[in-house]
Parts: sequence; structure tokens; C-alpha cells
Amino acid sequence: MAAPGENLRIDGDRLWDSLMEMAKIGPGVAGGNNRQTLTDEDAAGRDLFKSWCDEAGLSMGVDQMGTMFMTREGTDPDALPVYVGSHLDTQPTGGKYDGVLGVLGALEAVRSLNDLDIKTKHPIVVVNWANEEGARFAPAMLASGVFAGVHSQDYAYGRKDLEGKSYGEELARIGWKGDEETGARKMHAYYELHIEQGPILEAEGKDIGVVTHCQGLWWLEFTLTGREAHTGSTPMAMRVNAGLAMARILEMVQEVAMAAQPNAVGGVGQMQFSPNSRNVLPGTVVFTVDIRSPDQDKLDGMRAEVEKRAAEICEEIGVGCSVEPVGHFDPVTFDPELVENVRKSAEKLGHSHMNLISGAGHDACWAAKVAPATMIMCPCVGGLSHNEAEDISKEWATAGAEVLLHAVLETAEIVE
Ligand code: GLV
Ligand code: MN
Ligand code: MN
Repeated sequence: MAAPGENLRIDGDRLWDSLMEMAKIGPGVAGGNNRQTLTDEDAAGRDLFKSWCDEAGLSMGVDQMGTMFMTREGTDPDALPVYVGSHLDTQPTGGKYDGVLGVLGALEAVRSLNDLDIKTKHPIVVVNWANEEGARFAPAMLASGVFAGVHSQDYAYGRKDLEGKSYGEELARIGWKGDEETGARKMHAYYELHIEQGPILEAEGKDIGVVTHCQGLWWLEFTLTGREAHTGSTPMAMRVNAGLAMARILEMVQEVAMAAQPNAVGGVGQMQFSPNSRNVLPGTVVFTVDIRSPDQDKLDGMRAEVEKRAAEICEEIGVGCSVEPVGHFDPVTFDPELVENVRKSAEKLGHSHMNLISGAGHDACWAAKVAPATMIMCPCVGGLSHNEAEDISKEWATAGAEVLLHAVLETAEIVE
């Protein structure tokens, strides 16, 4: 006879329906989502998630960063909870699954335990971390970073979006500033299910990524100061062209990342010209360089090289250059015991699997600072993410949530 929970499967249809319901909130322009942090759409997504958690009998706590913690009680009042989650906020042109699968997959795991009346020794807490994406307020993984003591809450409250609105003001405005002290909770363990956001699992024909590491990152915000001048009447020799310096720096970042292959990436996703008028040479250009590698020395070496060469480029053109790091984490090694739980769960359920290093940052990276943590990944079509066309299959989502459930149960311990 199978041991309790041995053959437990989640309800893939119910998980998929919830993903599709959530995707109706903050629809994008091309089939995905725009549910950026601390917008009205974020608030509406939180309300829907809370209503599902209420139905599942979970009790809610919200911390002062706006992270939602939804608890299913355990049988041992002294046992610390197993936390399971991800994020419901999206990029401005985000997909339906980045983050959402991890939150709703965790909820589906709890719903399945409820259906079968399975009790666990440790409580299970489903988490929706605030501002994972860092699209509206840099850096990414802001609330989990405050939770883990990496950032101060005052620093986080003062982060501003492009319109100058602060995190603290916007959190209060949408009514999701909780009263729990951020980081006061203690975790027994943390699991996060996520789409891969890269092409490896699909190409290898594997259902499950057993995530052993996450690569590290630097976000370097450059402010280049040139001289605003007429684009038609200012002779070439008299220009102090901050836009030209930016273009050369972009090319240089590409060279630095290519020279650091394999296992290194670099690029620029955001820039602002000021005054951003067709016939004015920009007085100021602000942009963020994003460089990543799983190798600490390589990562820090790339940062040093980018900063040195950017300073040389700016000096040659006569442009002022200042650099502020607005996001950073070192490469992360996930907890070997939890990683093994994921691998064993995939095997037990008959899902093909392979080890993966996460290319994207995740809340699990900060959770790993305060508890044993790991991640589970499922494939996404063509490796495409941070794009409204991001896509997964119901079967992939179901397999991921099933492995999540079994790994969590390994840690939360079924009570017979
Ligand atoms: C977070 O989503 C990242 O940029 O990796
Ligand atoms: Mn994500
Ligand atoms: Mn993302």
C-alpha cells in the first residue's frame, strides 16, 4: 500500500483556470499582462488571490512592505512554517506565468491537501512577495530583500518610479501596507516554483528543472551629462553628446559580455533621454546596464571592466559620467537537502528532470539568506519571458505544481 500522500496529484485544471482568471486582471496589449507593482491592477490581483485563500481556509498576514503571507495551520504549534510562493506583479509587457505560476501553484498544492484532508506538522504559508520585478521600482526582489535584511525598509519606501512616486506612498495608496514587521517571521524552509524563462528544459525535452544555483547580478545606473544644444546648428566639433556616449557604452557592454563567455550576459533594457526632443542633443541620458553570471569573479570583473571603459568613453567625448548600483545579488547556491527533495519528488512522480542554474533573479535568492531554500522550474515555449507572448502548457504547469507539492510535503511532514 502506498504511504500517505505517496500518489498525491494536484488538480491541473483548477490550477490552469486560476492562472487564466488572474490573467484577466491588468491585461496587456498583446495577450499578456501589465500588473505592475502597487498599481490599481496589482491591488485587484491581490484581492482575487485573497478571496481564493479565504475559500481555502488560509489566514492572512501582511507585512509593512506589502507582502502577503497566507497560512494553512500545521499540527505542531512549535513547528516553523514552510513558505511557498513567488510574485503576482508583472513587467509592463509581462506574461501570464512569470511569478504567478509560483503563487497559484502553491495555492493549488494547499487546495489539494484540503481536498484530501491531509495534515502537516509544519504550517504551510503561501507567499505573494511584493515588487519582485523591479520594473516600476528598482531593484527587483525588493520586499524579499527587506525581509532578508539586505535593504532597509526606509531605502525601499524611498525608491521612486519614473513619475517620481515613491514605493511607500504607492503602497499606502493601494491599501496594502500591512502591520507586520518585515522580516520578523522565521522560516523552516522556502520553495519557489517558476517558469524557466530560458530555452534549456524545452530543448532538452525535460519536464522539471531542479534548480541548484542562481546567477548573480549587477544593475548599474549610469547618468551621463552632456550639453543640450540644437541638433541642426551645432557643429559636430562643438557637441558634448551624451547620446553618443551611451551608444558607445551599449556596444562596449556587449563586447564585455561576449568576452566573458560562457555563462555571462550583459545588456541595457531601460534608458531615458532628457529633454527627449528630436532636435535637441540630450543634456542628460540615464540608463541601466544589467550584467549577470553564476561565477562571482567573472561577475565582479565584468562590473569593473564596464565602469572603467565607460569612464574612458565619456572622457574622450567630454561627457560627465556617474554610476550608481541599483540592484545586486551574489550568485546563490540553493540548499542541497531541499534540492534533493525536488529531484526525488520528480523521480517519484515519473517526471523527467535535469539540474538548472537560474538565469533570472528570484525571491528565493533572498529567502536563501534566512532559511534553506530552493526552486523548481518548468519549461516555457521558446524560452521566451518578459514578453506578453510568454507561454507554457497545462501539462508543464501541472507537473511543476505536483513536484512542488511533494517536495513541500517532504519538508512539512505529513501527520498520519
Ligand atoms: C527579475 O525578474 C530579474 O530581472 O531576473
Ligand atoms: Mn519572476
Ligand atoms: Mn520577471
